[in-house]
Amino acid sequence: MSEPIKWVKKDPAKENVFWPTEEMKKQAWVADESIYAEAKADPVKFWAQHAEELHWFKRWDKDYEFAPLAYKWFIGGKINLSYNSLDRHIEVGNGDKVALIWEPEPTDEEPLKITYSQLHTLVSKFANVLKSLGVKKGDRVGIYLPMIPEAVVAMQACARIGAPHSVVFSAFSPDSLRDRLIDAGAKVLITADGYYRRGKQINLKKNADAGVEGTGVEKVVVVKRLDGSAPMTPGRDLWYHELMEGASEDCPAEELDAEDLSFLLYTSGTTGKPKGIMHTTGGYAVQSYLTAKWNFDLHEGDIFWCTADVGWITGHTYINYGPLMNGVTSVIFEGSPDFPDYGRFWSIIEKHKVTQLYTAPTAIRMFIKWGDEWPAKYDLSSLRLLGTVGEPINVDAWLWYFERIGGGRCPIIDTWWQTETGANMVNSLPGIGPFIPTVAGRPFPGVIADILDSGGTPVKPGDGGYITIFSPFPPALTRGIYGDMERFKNQYFSDYGPERYFTSDGARKDEMGNIRITGRVDDVMNVAGHRLATAEVESALAQNDKVSEVAVVSRPHELKGEVPVAFVLLKAGITPSEEIRKELMGTVTKVIGPTGRPDEIIFVEDVPKTRSGKIMRRVLKALVRNEPIGDITTLQNPDSVDHLKEVVGYKGE
Ligand code: WTA
Repeated sequence: MSEPIKWVKKDPAKENVFWPTEEMKKQAWVADESIYAEAKADPVKFWAQHAEELHWFKRWDKDYEFAPLAYKWFIGGKINLSYNSLDRHIEVGNGDKVALIWEPEPTDEEPLKITYSQLHTLVSKFANVLKSLGVKKGDRVGIYLPMIPEAVVAMQACARIGAPHSVVFSAFSPDSLRDRLIDAGAKVLITADGYYRRGKQINLKKNADAGVEGTGVEKVVVVKRLDGSAPMTPGRDLWYHELMEGASEDCPAEELDAEDLSFLLYTSGTTGKPKGIMHTTGGYAVQSYLTAKWNFDLHEGDIFWCTADVGWITGHTYINYGPLMNGVTSVIFEGSPDFPDYGRFWSIIEKHKVTQLYTAPTAIRMFIKWGDEWPAKYDLSSLRLLGTVGEPINVDAWLWYFERIGGGRCPIIDTWWQTETGANMVNSLPGIGPFIPTVAGRPFPGVIADILDSGGTPVKPGDGGYITIFSPFPPALTRGIYGDMERFKNQYFSDYGPERYFTSDGARKDEMGNIRITGRVDDVMNVAGHRLATAEVESALAQNDKVSEVAVVSRPHELKGEVPVAFVLLKAGITPSEEIRKELMGTVTKVIGPTGRPDEIIFVEDVPKTRSGKIMRRVLKALVRNEPIGDITTLQNPDSVDHLKEVVGYKGE
């Protein structure tokens, strides 16, 4: 075993600035500063060079082409994500390497190891199953699966035949599922009878049944994870295992155009309606592959564990495509980190000798709360690198993660990116550093980004502004919102024009160009690392017929980062009560799912409004955050604010 790497603080005067050691520099894919300047001088060439590392059925004719709202990469190239994830490794004799380790939640069930060859067989068979159900290239397929290997099989099978998948997070409600299936126009849904969560069996099929109602879904494929007693609708529902039995193993990967749609993933925008973010095949493949490799220092034999759910972009790119295109082992965990006890994550790392762990600040804060004794019980020495994603990390959480989990020897790669960007965008590289708590780092080589003020001028180091991405856009950047290019234009390309992508995130940079993300500047929250719009929670609550008016704002939360707080005006004659509060929580769970539930529902008689009748959410936000309220003289009803101060126990002034 090699000596543990000791991390040195280069400048003792500057606390908490960490740099890679010589050992890490030696093993990392890039360790030389010059990569940044080189990539910046010609980003298109940079990406094209690395695209060569993947398998292309036909090489592209042109690297990059820009037109407003229609930028393209690897034009004319033919490629397949599944081929690059599976066939490519088998061809060079790596078929027996383990592609997936599945850790079921019940501890009396054995973990499952699936080799690249086995996964190839499963994916090919399931791709043929999809074909037999009439799925053709370009058809959207809904996936509503828990954290079981079949989620990866289903996504890979879709990729293999060029049928874009649209994965819906399994904790989303039937209503959310329905909206997404309708918007995507899916005719086939892949789901499961259920899964285990904190020792309980969760009936997913029931939600799937309710969700497909009123959609165009004609066939529902059901994976048997539980006892198989779920009711099946004749003519519509089919068991996965029965379909797989008779399926052929022969399914060559479709030669897809680099710009063909590979998947849709719905995410929250500022309105109540989630948007279907479109990703391509070639550009997405290249950036997913390269960021996974360089950022997480992926080498042969590595056991990479990204703890996100497959229902989010992090799961798409760093459980499935990124690690598999790199030929390493990817861990999938079905359950909850507190089951059967608070040591579950650490036991998984010890048992499977995980080499890189990629998780969210919310999880880290929870682990801190649970106590140091839990990670201390386990051998975490296999870990070589740590990653974080999804929300800004606080200094304490960063340092705890670094010391208690990484043993002070693992760099923390704080990756900033979005569903829209498809893959990591801003982070320090493990062989270059620096690693500074709360600072993500520099844009990944080939990503041109800066912090702009609202007029579009780059801000001085230290000043706040909006992190913005410039053309040539990174290859994985979304190509649009499914069925709504107008919204695409308005959301991302109206602030600074078509050649600068507006991210909706606030940020600062230091003299060296290291970027600290300060958080969303729109009405999108990061609740326990889950992206959620205040408008979504509002429109959910408004569906309850007792509600007259509602406004939702975010409030910082010690563990979850941010949480929604709802101000609710009930209809005349209805008196607030504990029962109504419960009912409203139930409404949110029904419409969105448990992730949308407000932390608090505050019943009020009035909310501050402008003269034109618009609710002043800014004032409500200041109230719940104990921040200065600012000028309220132009309000229609300034008295409402005094009343609300009492209701929320405002301590801000
Ligand atoms: C936030 C998740 C700070 C950010 C990959 C972004 C982060 C939103 C970080 C996207 C980070 C993501 N530091 N904030 N390292 N990573 N965010 O689409 O506000 O679920 O806009 O993608 O998460 O969330 P999404």
